Amino acid sequence: MFITPLIAAPMAGGTTTTELALAAQGAGAFAFAAGGYKTADQLAAHIAPLRATGLDFGVNLFVPRDAPLSARGVAALSAYRTSLRSTAQRYGAQLPAVAPDKDKVQDYWTEKMALLLADPVPLVSFTFGLASNEVVASLHKVGTRVAASVTNVAEALAAGATGVDALIVQHAGAGGHTAAFLPSKATPPDASGTLAQLVAAIGAAVSLPLVGAGGVSGPSDAKAALAAGAVAVAIGTALIRTDESGARQLHKDALADPFYNETAMTRSFTGKPARALVNEFVREHTACAPEAYPEVHFLTAPLRSAAAAAQDPRAVNLWAGIGWKSAQSGPAAAVVGSFLHEL
Ligand SMILES: Cc1cc2nc3c(=O)[nH]c(=O)nc-3n(C[C@H](O)[C@H](O)[C@H](O)COP(=O)(O)O)c2cc1C
Repeated sequence: MFITPLIAAPMAGGTTTTELALAAQGAGAFAFAAGGYKTADQLAAHIAPLRATGLDFGVNLFVPRDAPLSARGVAALSAYRTSLRSTAQRYGAQLPAVAPDKDKVQDYWTEKMALLLADPVPLVSFTFGLASNEVVASLHKVGTRVAASVTNVAEALAAGATGVDALIVQHAGAGGHTAAFLPSKATPPDASGTLAQLVAAIGAAVSLPLVGAGGVSGPSDAKAALAAGAVAVAIGTALIRTDESGARQLHKDALADPFYNETAMTRSFTGKPARALVNEFVREHTACAPEAYPEVHFLTAPLRSAAAAAQDPRAVNLWAGIGWKSAQSGPAAAVVGSFLHEL
């Protein structure tokens, strides 16, 4: 299914630009378009140059939450808004008073699925939840292969039952949001154990091609995951600092700044556990952040933008996987090449 052992992971929110995906693809990796947060029109524009290469590529979508926020969730969101006031004031940011509209909460799912069915792509991957058997079957019908992101054996079994063709096995050391969608004893998912061990455990339970992701900082981590049975490995954080990455410069700089010495899983920025460099915002707001994705994402967005505009990384979501210290600047092709050279 993947003719190359290296995948440029989808990174929504601006990091995966079309240029990054094209550069990774050109250097021999399998590239993903990051569909999360985009409207269908934006996604179509993002995909077009990748399609034009004639090479295989994937499109990643967020599976939206199916129920509205509970009354308890609404109350927790409001309390969280209050607790963010002084931080917002520091940056002159206005915290939105109302929750995001339904289209944003659903992440334009209906329109993006319609686009992918009308104008099929080689592969679609999902994260944050499972697409239904019907959705998977409709993609198969138009010739699209489907992958689901999972973080443990229970999720892998549930994903396998939807008829997908492959699993993205994401270890909790991954940068950005966890793909976890089932309640688990370890919430947020626990980063003990290696990616190779997780791949082996899931491989013993499910007979689907597995892509290992999370904390792959260099070729030796990649080789270990491949030896454990993965058909390919995906890298995200390793590409954030590259020239073609659309991450903010202050995010790229933070990844190379020895001031930061740890990452943590935090709901503080978006309401869903995500791994980031530990900065002041993570320290101050993780404990009281509610489980309310994507409402918290839209609540904190103006604050994060204002902090970034002020070149102040203290209140910016500095997504980073546990291997962040190895992330290199320079052309993405060089990073991809340095992995592929050894795989
Ligand atoms: C900035 C950033 C954004 C991400 N956005 C997405 C996304 O849109 N969809 C997705 O499935 N995974 C997303 N991820 C997770 C990656 O696809 C991948 O699983 C992860 O980066 C692998 O771990 P690593 O960062 O340690 O290499 C994101 C990761 C980062 C760092």
